[in-house]
Amino acid sequence: MSLPPAEVLARYAGFEHAAARPYGRGLINDTFLLESAAGRCVLQRLHPVFGAAVHHDIEAVTAHLARKGLVTPRLVPARDGALWVERATDERVEVWRAQTFVPDLVTHDRLAHDRHAFAAGALVGRFHRALADLEHEYRFVRAGVHDTRAHLAKLAAAVDAARDHRLYDAVAPLAAEILAAGAALPALSSLPQRHSHGDLKLSNLLFDAELRGVCLVDLDTVGRMALPLELGDALRSWCNPAGEDATDCAVSAERVGLAVAGYASAAGDAVTRDEGAALVDGLATICVELAARFAADALLERYFGWEPSRHPSRGAHNLVRARGQWSLARSVLAGRADLEARVAAALV
Ligand SMILES: Nc1ncnc2c1ncn2[C@@H]1O[C@H](COP(=O)(O)OP(=O)(O)O)[C@@H](O)[C@H]1O
Ligand SMILES: [Mg+2]
Repeated sequence: MSLPPAEVLARYAGFEHAAARPYGRGLINDTFLLESAAGRCVLQRLHPVFGAAVHHDIEAVTAHLARKGLVTPRLVPARDGALWVERATDERVEVWRAQTFVPDLVTHDRLAHDRHAFAAGALVGRFHRALADLEHEYRFVRAGVHDTRAHLAKLAAAVDAARDHRLYDAVAPLAAEILAAGAALPALSSLPQRHSHGDLKLSNLLFDAELRGVCLVDLDTVGRMALPLELGDALRSWCNPAGEDATDCAVSAERVGLAVAGYASAAGDAVTRDEGAALVDGLATICVELAARFAADALLERYFGWEPSRHPSRGAHNLVRARGQWSLARSVLAGRADLEARVAAALV
C-alpha cells in the first residue's frame, strides 16, 4: 500500500510533515496513522465503492454522538474546512479523509469469549439509542445493499451463465440449496428504517483492555436500515466461532443470547415487538444473502478479495466462504426455535 502523498498531507494543518504508517487490518479503505508535533490522526484513502458525499453523513452522525457524550472518531477538516480531500491520479480521483485517532483501544478478529458478545451488543445498543433522535437525510445511499432478492437473482443468473466454469459442478448444487432457502425467507421490508452503522463486523468495534466496548469505527456505511438486518449482520460476524474461512460453521446460540441481552441493556426499550420477533429471521437472511454472494463470486471471480497463499484461485476461496456461510445459515434455520426463545428472553 503506497504511503499518503505529500500533496494530501499538505492539506492538513499540523500534519504537513507527519510520519505516516499503515494502520489496522481493514480490508476496504487504506488506513494510515499520522504522527506529528500536532498529535496523531487516522488518514484514509476511501474505497471507490463509497461516494465522497458520505462524509456529510459521517459528520452528522458523529456530531450527534459527540453531543450525547459518546466516544467517537470525528472528521478532521482540511485547512480550507473541507471534510475530505480529492486528488486526481491517472486512473481516478482519490478521496482522502482524516479522523481523530481514538487511542489505547483494540479491535478483535473474533470474540475473546462468550461474554465478549454482551459488551459488543451493549456498544451497539448505546450507538443506536444515541442516534434515535437524529434528524438527518442521508446524502450517500448505497442502493440494494441488503436487497436479498437481487443477490439471489444474481446467483441464479451466474449459475445459468457458467456451465463451462471449472467450479460449476461444485457451485451449482450449493446454489440450488441457497436459492431454495432464500425463496422461503420472510420479507423484512415493513419494519422501521432506523439509523444504522451498516457494517457491524467485530473489527469495526473498538474495545478497551477490559473488553468494554468504547466506540464504533468505519462509518462509511451509515444509513437507514431495518434493525433485524443491522443486528443480523452483527450476529453473523460475532456468533460464528469458526470464522469466515471455515467450511463447517455453526451459530453459537449462547452468544446470540448474550449479544442481544447486551444490546437490550443499552438500547433501552427501543426495540419493538415486531423487530424483536424478526431478529432471527434477520440473521438467517444475512447468512443466506452472504452465502449467495460468495457462491456467485465463486463463478464470477471479480468482487471479493482472496488469499493466493491459501487458495488456488479467487473462485476456490469464495467457494470455501460460500460453504461456510451456507453451513452457518443451515445452523440458524435448524436452531431457529431455540434462538428465538433466547432472543425473546434477552429482550424482556
Ligand atoms: N479513528 C480511529 N481511531 C483508532 N483506530 C482506528 C480509527 N479508525 C480506524 N481505526 C483502526 O483501523 C482499522 C481499519 O479502519 P476501518 O475504518 O475499519 O477500515 P476498513 O474499511 O478498511 O475496514 C480499524 O479496524 C481500527 O482498528
Ligand atoms: Mg473496518
